[in-house]
Amino acid sequence: MRFSENFIQEVVDRTDIEELIGRYVELKRQGANLWGRCPFHSEKTPSFSVSPVKRMFFCFGCHAGGSAITFVQKIENLDFPEAVEYLANRVGLPLPKESEAAYETRGVSRKRVLEMNLEAAKFFRACLFDERLGAEGMKYLHEDRGLSMATIKHFGLGFAPNSFQSLTDHMHRLGYTDEELVAACLCGKSQKTGRTYDYFRDRVMFPIIDTSGNVVAFGGRVMDDSKPKYLNSSDTPAFKKSRHLFALNFAKNHCAEKAILCEGYMDVIALHAAGFEYAVATLGTAITPDHARVFSKYTQKVVISYDSDDAGQNAANKAMRILGEVGMEVRVLKLSGAKDPDEYIKKFGSDKFRQVLEQSKTGFDHKSERILSKFDLTVGSEKIKATSEICALIAEYWSGVEREVYISQASNLLELPKEVLKNSVEQIRRKQKRAYDAKQSREAMASVKNFGDRINPEAAKDPRAVSAEETVLGLLLLKEEYRNAVEKGEIVLSEEDFVTDFHRRVFSSMMRMHRTDGGLRYELLGAEFTPDEMGRIEKTEIARQQLVQNGPEVLRSAAAVLRDARTKENMKNSSLNEKIAYLREKKAKLHKGKADKT
Ligand code: UTP
Ligand code: MN
Repeated sequence: MRFSENFIQEVVDRTDIEELIGRYVELKRQGANLWGRCPFHSEKTPSFSVSPVKRMFFCFGCHAGGSAITFVQKIENLDFPEAVEYLANRVGLPLPKESEAAYETRGVSRKRVLEMNLEAAKFFRACLFDERLGAEGMKYLHEDRGLSMATIKHFGLGFAPNSFQSLTDHMHRLGYTDEELVAACLCGKSQKTGRTYDYFRDRVMFPIIDTSGNVVAFGGRVMDDSKPKYLNSSDTPAFKKSRHLFALNFAKNHCAEKAILCEGYMDVIALHAAGFEYAVATLGTAITPDHARVFSKYTQKVVISYDSDDAGQNAANKAMRILGEVGMEVRVLKLSGAKDPDEYIKKFGSDKFRQVLEQSKTGFDHKSERILSKFDLTVGSEKIKATSEICALIAEYWSGVEREVYISQASNLLELPKEVLKNSVEQIRRKQKRAYDAKQSREAMASVKNFGDRINPEAAKDPRAVSAEETVLGLLLLKEEYRNAVEKGEIVLSEEDFVTDFHRRVFSSMMRMHRTDGGLRYELLGAEFTPDEMGRIEKTEIARQQLVQNGPEVLRSAAAVLRDARTKENMKNSSLNEKIAYLREKKAKLHKGKADKT
């Protein structure tokens, strides 16, 4: 675990869960709890509850539940340590030093990787500017790609020589070990000989610099047509591909008004050189929600300028959705006459680019134009197809106002009356709603029957035993005295008695925590279980709470059911003789019981 248990408790204790959740959900007090409409599934009547006393939330509709940390994990799509960090920042709690150590992979810290990267960047730059070593790289960047010396220096570009040992030797001299170099993704390690070698060879090098000025990774391009064209650092303790954007270190100071998102390193460099210093790119991956969240901290308006081929345009559609989901205002620029922004600026100049940038389209215009360009509207059957695709596109918009505006636009484009389009759009929406409702109820049915249970996939195995497991866990979660009883052996129950893996994990984590000073705390369970699993654990407790019969005899008999199920399971595997012996014994007990009664 990245954070100590004490720290996690401190964060949760300081967090006002009512205020936290209140920022996302309108809550109304009713008795001890607060109620609102669940942010994790769509509903009309509130079934989402927050208990300020227990510092927990739970939705009776979709069974999402857990602590403040779980809530942040789900709503902000963070992992457990990230959510703890988020809340710590929120309540103004400084992160403990330990957290730095926890970033370590294979014993190599983020700090150490950053040091190595900086040394490597200096080394690559020195190679590029070395007349002999860097001649080929310099010719490629300066002459073939037309980058000015100022641009080459501004981006800290470099050159990795055609050698397996030059960076490795250099870094060894500076005192870095093989293991550290491999962890930083500067070296690879040969499976055969176990020797380390330079990861980047015979490539021009693009350092990737984060918004604090650290060199976090590298991209390297070949100078001919060999493959792969670009080689990028894998994720390291200092770098997450799904989060970092190339040139955001420069762009962050220029993108208050708008930003440009493009596909390639060279696009970004060409754009900055031409005065568009608000351009960034992802690094060898499609844009992720993580990227979008980081990006949206610096700018609210973005123009996507991807490659003009089909792949680029499809990627642009996806990017539009992802950026739109974090609330950014997204436009799309489709260039004609060049494959990407780099080529466009070379061919037509920066003034022309500025002009077309001004004319970039909103998401709807861009998408509808793409649809219309596929069809010949003078042919009846094609016009029908185009119309149905456009209506489907409009139906995706949640806001009625937006739909109304686009229906007017489409009516002009397709030369069809608005009423006709409107009917068609509403018909699609009704159909989608029916499909959605049907899916919801199917899922509800499935969860009732235990089939297709994603959280506890073994739930359908032995219904009697599984329901006994739920009883046992619910009661143990509910009452500390029961946990004590199990701990002392007054109630016989152990890990082996569980038939499903998920319930066994809950049992062992809960009992392990019970034995520590702090006792069982939900927020700590969150370190070991996913948000969905947390919801299930919370549900198990709440389901129990709502029952009247919660005495120790209920726990005892459920534990007995589990032990019995285990004996039966063992029987299946034991030899015939043992089975006979067991049956004899059981019969004898039965007779004795009868004899006692008479
Ligand atoms: P492109 O193939 O469009 O390259 O890939 P480009 O940016 O136009 O590059 P030049 O102009 O030929 O030099 C776009 C981006 O996809 C990633 C890189 O980030 C690249 O900038 N990519 C591409 C890779 O990571 N690996 C590859 O092999 C190719
Ligand atoms: Mn390209």
